[in-house]
Amino acid sequence: MWCLELLLPLLLFINASCQWNVWLPRDISAMTNSCVVIPCTFMYPSGIRPSRGIHGIWYFGQPYPQLFPPVVFKSRTDVVHESYKGRTKLLGDLHQRNCTLLINNIGTEHSGRYYFRADLGGANIYTYPDFTELKVLDQPNIDVPEEIVSDESLELTCYAPDNCPDMTPEIQWMYTDYLPDPEFSTDLVEESNTAVLSNTLTFTPRPMHNGQLLGCRVYYPNTTLAYERLISLDVKYAPRSVWVNASSEVMEGSSVTLHCEVDSNPPARIAWMFGDQELLWDTASNVSLMLDDVTPANEGIYTCVGDNGYGIMNTSLYLAVKYPPHEPVVNDSITVVEGTTLALHCSTQGSPAPTLTWLKDGQLVGTITADELSVLTIVEITPQGDGQYRCLAENEHGRASSSLNITVEYAPVLLEESKCTVVREGVQCVCMATGNPEPTIEFYLPDLNITINETDGRYNFYTHTDGHTSTGMIKLREKGERVDNGSPAVNVHCSISNAYGRESILLELQQEKKYMMAVIVGTIGGVAVIAFIIAAVRYVGHNNKKENGNPRQDVVLENPALYYRWVGLPFSDCLGLKFCVMKKSYSHDKTPC
Ligand SMILES: *[C@@H]1O[C@H](CO)[C@@H](O)[C@H](O)[C@H]1NC(C)=O
Ligand SMILES: *[C@@H]1O[C@H](CO)[C@@H](O)[C@H](O)[C@H]1NC(C)=O
Ligand SMILES: *[C@@H]1O[C@H](CO)[C@@H](O)[C@H](O)[C@H]1NC(C)=O
Ligand SMILES: *[C@@H]1O[C@H](CO)[C@@H](O)[C@H](O)[C@H]1NC(C)=O
Ligand SMILES: *[C@@H]1O[C@H](CO)[C@@H](O)[C@H](O)[C@H]1NC(C)=O
Ligand SMILES: *[C@@H]1O[C@H](CO)[C@@H](O)[C@H](O)[C@H]1NC(C)=O
Ligand SMILES: *[C@@H]1O[C@H](CO)[C@@H](O)[C@H](O)[C@H]1NC(C)=O
Ligand SMILES: *[C@@H]1O[C@H](CO)[C@@H](O)[C@H](O)[C@H]1NC(C)=O
Ligand SMILES: *[C@@H]1O[C@H](CO)[C@@H](O)[C@H](O)[C@H]1NC(C)=O
Repeated sequence: MWCLELLLPLLLFINASCQWNVWLPRDISAMTNSCVVIPCTFMYPSGIRPSRGIHGIWYFGQPYPQLFPPVVFKSRTDVVHESYKGRTKLLGDLHQRNCTLLINNIGTEHSGRYYFRADLGGANIYTYPDFTELKVLDQPNIDVPEEIVSDESLELTCYAPDNCPDMTPEIQWMYTDYLPDPEFSTDLVEESNTAVLSNTLTFTPRPMHNGQLLGCRVYYPNTTLAYERLISLDVKYAPRSVWVNASSEVMEGSSVTLHCEVDSNPPARIAWMFGDQELLWDTASNVSLMLDDVTPANEGIYTCVGDNGYGIMNTSLYLAVKYPPHEPVVNDSITVVEGTTLALHCSTQGSPAPTLTWLKDGQLVGTITADELSVLTIVEITPQGDGQYRCLAENEHGRASSSLNITVEYAPVLLEESKCTVVREGVQCVCMATGNPEPTIEFYLPDLNITINETDGRYNFYTHTDGHTSTGMIKLREKGERVDNGSPAVNVHCSISNAYGRESILLELQQEKKYMMAVIVGTIGGVAVIAFIIAAVRYVGHNNKKENGNPRQDVVLENPALYYRWVGLPFSDCLGLKFCVMKKSYSHDKTPC
């Protein structure tokens, strides 16, 4: 009847159903030192009529009696295996086909398979191949999900077998004080006549709970039996902080280490990026980027990116590379015409940004700027604007400069030293002018309607050029009359010219002691007179021009005979003129006229 009931839902194998059959749980568990009841019912073929009662044996380990498995329980005798002595009791009534077994004071050595053998007398002895696998636990089991992810609700279930009728377990979670809003729920699941008590802890873990210990405690009230299991939470979380150095400054040529530390679980793939370029990566908790011999090209934003599959995060820093100014770039040297307005550009690089200063011939001009570019504007440049312009770039790490020369071309300007003076032999006229290109000097004698210039070899005419200053000299001798009888009537024009202009001036006659003295000395020798005059002119010119950067080397004074020769011939015969000129001459043989 019972047999039918049980199998009816399967298939109506009525005959087959009442064969050798046993029903016991496939698995059952118990805590150490507690007890376990293995529920068991069995069937035997309906044809068998047990004559001398029904007996049963429980074996441990294996079903084959010939291999002498440990006897757990035997209904015929008390003889059981040592380890089961006094511990086992058959709760079921074999005549009711109930083979339910109690094992007390259970130990881990009792873990294993339990087989039931029915003894119905005679040859009707049968060991059922089905078995119960007993697990004896000294710790409760905790169900932990394979992956615990931060900010996602987590359920942890702790299990305790409840198969000992005298003792009912209870479950407690430990170390839950710091969990956010933990919830607990107990449940009792009965299956195949076995029961499992469970307690489920529900909460939402945060990154901070990674590595935290949690415990489950199973105990039996009013006993000393208690069991604990501890677990450490492995909470996966996306990078929650990416630490990098503060932005920093380094000197060009030095080396620097940029450090990045990522807080994540599992460790992230950490990459150092410079712009779009990935410089370095590693899967670790920190990665250091070494930059050797940094150049200005290394300056910029460095980003450390942490990615561990649960999320991605980055932090950046700015690396500034300090270096002394590079040689400034300035315009090429140029030649301009007086009155031109020009802008000189100076640019350089340096870090920190250098200051730019313009110097002309060593003197500060213009303002100091801290821009990348400094423009010096010269409005309507004058001859004084001629010179060397230097742009100086400076920062705290050094200085550099570049220069250019500006040559100013201008129309000739007569210098005030130009005049005629009375000398012993007559009248000497000096004409001085500056200009760029250096002016050409000509004398014009209107009375004679005659122009004398350098190439006019017939006259004793002398010119000299020093830089932008030209000097012309002519000496006139008056026929018959004595000079000291009174001022002679002198009508000498000086004409100065270059590409930018021409000017003609009537030279005034002056009596100057300096030249009178020169005349006296001059009697000693014409060369000495010339030398003196050149020296005087140069002296005046020096005062006038100031420093123009050209080294002064008085070649003429040192060896005047090499270049100039005193001819000093009276030319009255030649041209019927009452004057005498000093002539630049290259040969003794060249006689005027
Ligand atoms: C077998 O015996 C046990 C113990 O007396 C009892 O709790 C259980 O209900 C019985 N099983 C059946 C199927 O009658
Ligand atoms: C434990 O013992 C106390 C008295 O000592 C009793 O009141 C209580 O019901 C017992 N609890 C259990 C679960 O047996
Ligand atoms: C970055 O930080 C690390 C660790 O604190 C340090 O060793 C390194 O020198 C720092 N680098 C810079 C450029 O500050
Ligand atoms: C950096 O990572 C290494 C291993 O990758 C580790 O040994 C070291 O302690 C870490 N340093 C820091 C500051 O976290
Ligand atoms: C860093 O993060 C910001 C914001 O999340 C993102 O816009 C940027 O593209 C990231 N940079 C890199 C280099 O990944
Ligand atoms: C100097 O160079 C700049 C830039 O090349 C240019 O604009 C400027 O006209 C130049 N100045 C002169 C005087 O040549
Ligand atoms: C400018 O002139 C000076 C002297 O005349 C010369 O030494 C220097 O090299 C010149 N500089 C440039 C840039 O031409
Ligand atoms: C000067 O001479 C030129 C020819 O050489 C002549 O044409 C001119 O008229 C003369 N001038 C005077 C003022 O005599
Ligand atoms: C000097 O005058 C002559 C004739 O007038 C002329 O051909 C020559 O070019 C002049 N020389 C100079 C240096 O001006």
